[in-house]
Amino acid sequence: MTQNITTFTEAVLEQNPLHKKFMQTALSSMTPDEKTRFETYIDYCAEKGLDTGYLADCYMTIVEDTLREQMYFQRHGHYRHNSFADVANDVYFNDEYMSRYMYGLALTSFLWPNHLAMARFFNETLPTDKTGAYLEIGPGHGYYLMTAMARSAFTSFLGVDISKTSIEQTRALITHFAPDKKDAFDLKEMDFLDSSLPDNSFDAIVMGEVLEHVEKPDAFLKEIARIAKPDAYIFVTTCINAPAVDHIYLFKSPDELDTLFHDCSLEIATPCLCPYEGKTLAESAALKLPVNVAYVLRKT
Ligand SMILES: C[S@@+](CC[C@H](N)C(=O)[O-])C[C@H]1O[C@@H](n2cnc3c(N)ncnc32)[C@H](O)[C@@H]1O
Repeated sequence: MTQNITTFTEAVLEQNPLHKKFMQTALSSMTPDEKTRFETYIDYCAEKGLDTGYLADCYMTIVEDTLREQMYFQRHGHYRHNSFADVANDVYFNDEYMSRYMYGLALTSFLWPNHLAMARFFNETLPTDKTGAYLEIGPGHGYYLMTAMARSAFTSFLGVDISKTSIEQTRALITHFAPDKKDAFDLKEMDFLDSSLPDNSFDAIVMGEVLEHVEKPDAFLKEIARIAKPDAYIFVTTCINAPAVDHIYLFKSPDELDTLFHDCSLEIATPCLCPYEGKTLAESAALKLPVNVAYVLRKT
């Protein structure tokens, strides 16, 4: 392990000694390639002047906020908020919080088993020989977009995100890791639903962890179906019974998502369903425990 991973882990355990077994398991579950990418991400943050204590704060912010929201959800049976206005100023437009949240979320994509499983699914399914236009909705920390730029043959990349903080974090990551593609990408700070992109224009559309953050997920999916080319690679992740500070749309089952996709002129090509750790999908559903889901979709 590099010094930065060691000091990051120590800083996490200083804040929460109970996380020790979890961190040990997480670090030993990564493939050598994933561990290298995790190290590279932490080293990149360190180069930007973000010390490992701050990164541990970012990570623990998500851990603690999620735990608090899970307790609320188990007690009330619904998410704390259900409108964009309830969360926008505290999260997406609060630079200090959003920065911490996005660095923390990028770290969970290495450390949390379900987030790692979805990142692996993305890496496995992302076409490497397809060219054309790639769109990402809500890139956030930018790690998926940067990965697509590094691993695929798409020729142009567009990211649309409503948060200035996310746009800046994504731009910094891409500029660092894909400097040769600086003329091949564009980032737009706006609501995706206002982006008015042309019909049948994208060869790939990726939207990770956005559907549960919006009031009308059907509007997002219909818009994706409208702007995707007939054979586009469409990758979407979301979650079921999975509270977080800014989750406002509660999905209750994979069947609900299946129907929603169908109603929005999309269908599932390949699913990746990740139940709560140590439980089956049926047990997770019965106990209303979080389930993460990722899909490759196609237009119907
Ligand atoms: C939870 S983050 C997901 C980050 C990353 N895609 C991932 O999978 O880890 C959600 C992102 O979606 C953005 N977002 C939320 N509502 C949006 C909207 N209406 N239009 C564009 N982006 C939006 C947020 O600003 C944030 O950057």
